[in-house]
Amino acid sequence: MRSLARSNQHFKRAVKKLPLGVSSNFRYWGDDKTIYVKRGKGGRFWDIDDNEYIDYRLAYGPVILGYADERVDKAAREGMNVGGVFALSTELEYDLASRISKMVPAAELVRYSNSGTEAVMAALRVARAHTGKDGHIAIEGGYHGIFTEILWRSNMKDWDQSREPELLPYGDGVPAATRKLFHPLPLNDANRAEDLLKKHNNEIGAFLIEPIMGNCCSITADKQYLHDVRELCDHYNVLLIVDEVKTGFRVAKGGVQELFDFKADICTFAKAVANGYPISIVAGREDIMRKIGDGVVHGGTFTGHSVSLAAANKTLEILDETDALETIRNYGLDLQRGMSQILNQRNIVHSFTGAPALMGLFFAEQAPSNYREWVNSDYEFYDALAQELIEEGVLVEPDSREPWFLCEAHNDGCLDETLTKFERAVDITMGKMSDVA
Ligand SMILES: Cc1ncc(COP(=O)(O)O)c(C=O)c1O
Repeated sequence: MRSLARSNQHFKRAVKKLPLGVSSNFRYWGDDKTIYVKRGKGGRFWDIDDNEYIDYRLAYGPVILGYADERVDKAAREGMNVGGVFALSTELEYDLASRISKMVPAAELVRYSNSGTEAVMAALRVARAHTGKDGHIAIEGGYHGIFTEILWRSNMKDWDQSREPELLPYGDGVPAATRKLFHPLPLNDANRAEDLLKKHNNEIGAFLIEPIMGNCCSITADKQYLHDVRELCDHYNVLLIVDEVKTGFRVAKGGVQELFDFKADICTFAKAVANGYPISIVAGREDIMRKIGDGVVHGGTFTGHSVSLAAANKTLEILDETDALETIRNYGLDLQRGMSQILNQRNIVHSFTGAPALMGLFFAEQAPSNYREWVNSDYEFYDALAQELIEEGVLVEPDSREPWFLCEAHNDGCLDETLTKFERAVDITMGKMSDVA
């Protein structure tokens, strides 16, 4: 059993100064379970009790190469020599924009912010300006950050399946007035999308989608669905915003758009862009993006920070010019094969979703194709297994909706250890669950 004595002690101190003792609600795992980190290196980190973890959360995605990657950190230090922020621009911005346009053809023009939230906010603002329509479609189970007009969610917990799920604000403080802007849709149902657009065509200016739902088990859109949505958007004068904050520069060099061979009008990136340094991107078709500066306001004191730009330039250079993503993919496939072998030996049916670099694990033969189906799936085993994995030193999110993230550095000796620990965790979980039964 791990000791979290120092983390527990620190929690008692931290909670006196910080709500929940942390800087993001999602980092609070309970008064006696919240972990404080000492340092990370490669695919691992150590907590302040010196417990070691192979990390498959990777900060929810930014760490694509590995923690404290020396190539990126060296570039970031050089970026620091530039001086930070000036309320003026540096040449680094153009270099990075050129690289992004090369990797993602839809990204004809580029603007930077600091967080994924800011990028999606900007994308919606540009779409509203371009179409003259304020509403947006968002996919059930999707997550696009923390800002008011997106903080609505379909209440699947109490869903009476004879009707549509109730739409609730995601927490307190969300203005009720933003409800009418938000139009939810289940993934992978183009007919429903068409019905909605026919009915509310005058109100809806944006179709916001994560084709691999990075906050909902990596449930994945069908390629055909994405092509249908692309056509519907063109037909109804709606801009297709592809939120690649999690998939971008992770599932393929050109992100999910390359994987499924389609093009967004606007796309957003953040996590893997700079291997953990804070930067985000809103990018898109030139005529749309030119709205910025021609009516649409966009900016921010810290946008285009020289440290983040230098780190992003180096990270994308590595992702673009080396086989880092191939290494990650192969590691993911080996990991899936090893996990499958262990599960098959125990007759545990399972399936994987998403892409190997951003993978969901399901204990069902057929993975769900939308969030409604996820509600009907059995995730009790996953939730119990996640706790045992964490005890063993394999860090996954306790909530089964968060997929596994992989980085290049996992390839340096994490596979066998992960599988040994996975096997032990599966056996312990099976034992505990049969005791309860
Ligand atoms: C798909 C997606 N969009 C937007 C965001 C918001 O990004 P940030 O947390 O950097 O504001 C997230 C965060 O997890 C995300 O997964």
